[in-house]
Amino acid sequence: MSDKKWKASQLHLAVEALSKGELVAFPTETVYGLGAVATNSEAVKKVFEAKGRPSDNPLIVHVASKEDVNHYAQGITSDAKKIMDTFWPGPLTLIFEIKPDALDPVVTGGLNTAAFRMPDNHLTLSLIKKTGLPLVGPSANISGKPSPTTAEHVLHDLSGKIAGVLDDGPTKVGVESTVLDMTTVPPMILRPGAVTKEDLEKVIRDVEVDCSLTGAEETPKSPGMKYKHYAPEVPVYMIDEKKQNWQEAVSWAEQKGMRIGLLGSKTLLEPFAGEKLEIFYLSKESDVTESMRRLFSGLRSLDEVTPGLDIIFVETFPDEGKGLAYMNRLKKAANQKYFSTLQT
Ligand code: TXA
Ligand code: MG
Repeated sequence: MSDKKWKASQLHLAVEALSKGELVAFPTETVYGLGAVATNSEAVKKVFEAKGRPSDNPLIVHVASKEDVNHYAQGITSDAKKIMDTFWPGPLTLIFEIKPDALDPVVTGGLNTAAFRMPDNHLTLSLIKKTGLPLVGPSANISGKPSPTTAEHVLHDLSGKIAGVLDDGPTKVGVESTVLDMTTVPPMILRPGAVTKEDLEKVIRDVEVDCSLTGAEETPKSPGMKYKHYAPEVPVYMIDEKKQNWQEAVSWAEQKGMRIGLLGSKTLLEPFAGEKLEIFYLSKESDVTESMRRLFSGLRSLDEVTPGLDIIFVETFPDEGKGLAYMNRLKKAANQKYFSTLQT
């Protein structure tokens, strides 16, 4: 299958391919998704095959309106409605109980709940409306790779396995949506994202964060969170934000004759420019939102584009607000490792 990069004017080609049961990658505000019609089980199976994704990891159903969710879900509370009114379209996925037999077990991983999201991207909202059915959409990467934030990343991983990718340039948010389980009291954040606990608590009274995300050793409640994600080939080490021991890290690696990649703000890393290092700036002045937008792109750039690096050091942020989402993804990429622990 030859795959194509489609522009907005070629939306009809994407609609046609989806309707035939083929896979189409689509843009969202978070990351690119790997789309198939959610009610076509054969097409959904192809999504798992293309990504190499374990079949017990359920998918998000992408809808074009709040009303669409009513066809599939039940028990939508007034708090849930308030949340949808405030944050949709946007980077927030909601877990609801489903109506009996409303969705194939291949979508839900056999659970009696499912994940729903209305993405904030006009092209993809038209794609869903014109296809006339919701789309499943895991991130459009090979499982274990950083999620794609450009159409080029999608083709790097999935070329030959999809009919095409609808190109809308780099994504705005850069990490996947917040996943909020609305079936528990109080609702619980299963995956941190750009919509934070603080944002949600401005709308409903109480929101919990799955304690496996805040450090306690427990099995995560979201099936997807147990898999090792976002791991580049080159070893990644975090630089503790309280220590900022970049110089020490660079000298240590240089002494070992390593080729070094640095990922962090311009303010922090400019002093190292010109030396024999590869630098990718995540932000200008250590801004967490900007760094979140560029994290996956930076990891891919140093890991896949620059040849032959031996080690990558990355900037960290406090584990709070949007920093929780950034650190959640980075810790997985670094396999939890800090440079400071490497030295001892
Ligand atoms: O931003 C995003 O959410 C992107 C874009 C493309 O929309 N999609 C995405 O999908 O990140 P995926 O499949 O990579 O992540 C879905 C997450 C997984 O961690 C999965 O385990 C969880 O949602 N999930 C899905 N259904 C669930 C359910 N019924 N209960 C708990 N967690 C669920
Ligand atoms: Mg993913």
